[in-house]
Amino acid sequence: MKILVTGGAGFIGSHTVVELQNEGFEVVIIDNLSNSSKKSLDGIMAITGKAPTFEKLDLREKDKVQDFFKRHQDIEGVIHFAASKAVGESVENPLLYYENNLGTLVYLLQELSKLKTSNFIFSSSCTVYGQADKMPITEDAPVKPAESPYGNTKQIGEEIIRDTCKVTPKIKAISLRYFNPMGAHPSVEIGELPIGVPQNLVPFITQTAVGLREQLSVFGDDYPTQDGTCIRDYIHVVDLAKAHVAALQRLLENKNKENYEVFNLGTGKGSSVLEVVNSFEKVSNKKLNYKIVDRRPGDVISAYADTTKANEVLGWKAKSTLDEAMKSAWDWEQKIRK
Ligand code: NAD
Ligand code: WQD
Repeated sequence: MKILVTGGAGFIGSHTVVELQNEGFEVVIIDNLSNSSKKSLDGIMAITGKAPTFEKLDLREKDKVQDFFKRHQDIEGVIHFAASKAVGESVENPLLYYENNLGTLVYLLQELSKLKTSNFIFSSSCTVYGQADKMPITEDAPVKPAESPYGNTKQIGEEIIRDTCKVTPKIKAISLRYFNPMGAHPSVEIGELPIGVPQNLVPFITQTAVGLREQLSVFGDDYPTQDGTCIRDYIHVVDLAKAHVAALQRLLENKNKENYEVFNLGTGKGSSVLEVVNSFEKVSNKKLNYKIVDRRPGDVISAYADTTKANEVLGWKAKSTLDEAMKSAWDWEQKIRK
């Protein structure tokens, strides 16, 4: 069964391609390599022994997208990772984000509407909840005004899919709201390759430890939390990848109750920034050089998932602990810096 994975050379996409291949799916990757490299494809091959079909293609080019689907009429499912994801950049360059994250989504859905049936999985984000009123966060928590154009593209993206599914019953879709993905494949053949200075906590920690960065700045320790630092739900990227296979199988087996569903993907456990730092120090046996600085504008105090729906409906549950995920991130960082 042939599955299209857009953004499949990227961090979460490459890990998902591995899990799809492990389940016997034939995978075609579309990626313009704007935030990844073909090294990921070598890594996938090293893990599974199977080279996914790869087409370097920019999904903003509508005619190229149309041509791709003409040549791949036998696609049975699409997992859509391709997007720009840097929150800060989206504030400076909103139109780049609206074009890249929404224009491409529209082109894909237009092509899916021409197929006799299709199964579509969308990469969404817990960012749609903003600062939720209640922890843990359930899927029916209200979507709040986005803090950034990036977050807005996830909210609008979900609405585009929902509205399309309403009038196109042959499209079955699931939005997966990721909390905080981290870590790398245990084989250390694939992992996160942030370009430039990492915005996210975990790659900044490992890059500081390996000497690439001088010191980690902890953005505020005066929040109303146990140790004063913000709380997030850090999920191992391999657990996240496995959830995509579970969601795809739900659609392929027509088990979905509605033709548009939403699931939170997290561990259900909240960890503070300092707990993440402590986890790193424990698994690496290294002291991390960090200092407390001012809060980062736009940060929510706490966000961790109620994973009941994904556990019960998808039959999926995150298995890795924070320490296991952190160990995989550290192993990966050391390998790529050799
Ligand atoms: P990533 O940047 O590693 O992967 C995205 C991939 O899409 C890259 O390989 C990039 O080259 C490709 N791409 C971007 N624009 C493209 C285009 N126009 N045409 C073709 N390819 C294009 O990011 P990721 O961390 O793997 O995230 C994947 C998805 O998950 C994104 O939609 C992101 O918004 C979402 N998400 C990520 C996180 C996170 O913390 N990483 C959290 C929540 C949601
Ligand atoms: C986590 C915590 C920071 C860096 C972002 C996007 C979200 C999604 C995941 C794409 C926060 C603190 C961080 C640092 C720090 N991406 N921190 N020093 O902000 O929860 O989510 O990435 O979809 O949309 O918003 O993740 O890793 O940036 O921050 O103290 O150098 O670590 O303040 O409390 P975040 P993050």
